[in-house]
Amino acid sequence: MENLKPNPNVEVKFTKLFINNEWVDSASGKTFPTYNPATGNKIADLQEADKADVDKAVDAASKAFALGSTYRTMNASDRGKLLYRLADLVERDLNYIANLETLDNGKAFAPHGSIGDTMFSAMVFRYYAGWADKICGKTIPIDGNFFSYTRHEPVGICGQIIPWNYPLAMATWKIAPAVAAGNVVVMKTAEQTPLTALYLASLVKEAGFPPGVVNILSGYGPTAGAAITAHPGINKVAFTGSTEVGQIIMRAAGESNIKRTTLELGGKSPCVIFDDVDVDKVVAEAQEACMTNMGQCCVAGTRTFVHENIYDEFVAKSRELAKTRKIGDPFDPTTKNGPQIDSEQMNKILGLIEKGKEQGAKIEVGGQRWGDKGFYIQPTVFSNVSDNMCIAKEEIFGPVQQILKFKDLDEVLRRANDTTYGLGAAVFTKDINRALMFAHGVQAGTVWINSYNHVSAQSPFGGYKMSGLGRELGEYGLQNYVEVKHVCVSLPQKNS
Ligand code: NAI
Ligand code: MG
Repeated sequence: MENLKPNPNVEVKFTKLFINNEWVDSASGKTFPTYNPATGNKIADLQEADKADVDKAVDAASKAFALGSTYRTMNASDRGKLLYRLADLVERDLNYIANLETLDNGKAFAPHGSIGDTMFSAMVFRYYAGWADKICGKTIPIDGNFFSYTRHEPVGICGQIIPWNYPLAMATWKIAPAVAAGNVVVMKTAEQTPLTALYLASLVKEAGFPPGVVNILSGYGPTAGAAITAHPGINKVAFTGSTEVGQIIMRAAGESNIKRTTLELGGKSPCVIFDDVDVDKVVAEAQEACMTNMGQCCVAGTRTFVHENIYDEFVAKSRELAKTRKIGDPFDPTTKNGPQIDSEQMNKILGLIEKGKEQGAKIEVGGQRWGDKGFYIQPTVFSNVSDNMCIAKEEIFGPVQQILKFKDLDEVLRRANDTTYGLGAAVFTKDINRALMFAHGVQAGTVWINSYNHVSAQSPFGGYKMSGLGRELGEYGLQNYVEVKHVCVSLPQKNS
């Protein structure tokens, strides 16, 4: 850790499209800028992909995936070695990558920010490296004289579209299981944060992946993103982002060629706190649940339900804690909250805060833009929130906590589930029966008991309802990257 050093002047090394292990200009010759959200200043211009570049990447990917290709004939364990090597290279360049992520995204250069994300990326590559030669089918005792078995084969060309809130981590969550299962990838990064995935592309090449296995394009959603979802040569699309765009993608995947589709979408996750907890400790955990990564987290626990017996104390302590949350330069390692990603997100958040005030919620602290450059929002706590207010229903994606009051388990479970989302949930209590009744009753892909936000490479992550489709990470994350093929062999005679 001692060689980790914040460097706001970190050099941008790659700005071109990565296709077939080569750095190329876009077919149109167009470029677009990426900005530093802490200052609003331009960092670099990047080649801008559109349909013609997606076609080119799909071409490279299909050659890499062709029967008899180096990649298709490689030992599964050698695919694993490529991923192990990639994990090692990410770790080798941790300091550089974390600095680049902080520059492009605005998250703090700290273990809770870009350093942690980069370390997690290495863990995920390593985790899936181990799976490469352990993905296998079954032999099945069917009736008659047959040998029946399944093969778990790669789906093929995977179009992957990722957001800006965890740029490197999202690239990793998608590339690692795809490659472990023997697929090839055409990825489009978020237009706000293209830089770390391009650097990762350079490591893909250095690790020795054959050309065309991983292709990474920078560009916009309605152009390059839409070209991926509509492409007849792409077999699967994996998306993380807004529910609204998730619906567009699912439609396009269906209309084009029934692409296998996995979606990781929005949330409005409940974080439920009973009156038998250590209040100081849980006030801090509930605030992290909501404000980690400046609230730009799909699984953020933004509906803090607090038992009526401790409600006033909890609100007062949350307010005081939010006042101490350090906001500012993300290259200062003591910073907790950096800027939001861009002015569009900042204004969306400020608009929702105004809505909250108009609808009668009480601002305990914050509620304003912070500073006059960059896209910062003050850590904000609302009390007196009721279920039908916009701030209790819509994904805010900012450091804005809603504290709601409840009386008992049945009531809070009903209210927790009264949402179109279902990504995460948490319950804090010492009563094991109550905790498990909540965990089993709540409609969410992940439930934390007495903690929040513990996401690991080994366990599945994904949403119920409009929070998504399918799971990422863990063994479950592989299911969406394989087709199950049944092979049935007629045997000459029955001998046992
Ligand atoms: P978005 O859903 O528009 O963007 C995510 C990705 O989808 C980006 O790569 C974008 O270029 C791409 N995209 C956009 N339109 C597309 C289309 N028609 N076809 C294919 N790809 C397309 O999210 P945005 O606009 O950046 O943020 C809006 C809201 O979405 C946020 O305020 C937040 O509530 C939510 N969001 C949720 C995320 C999550 O992790 N679940 C991540 C980012 C945003
Ligand atoms: Mg959008």
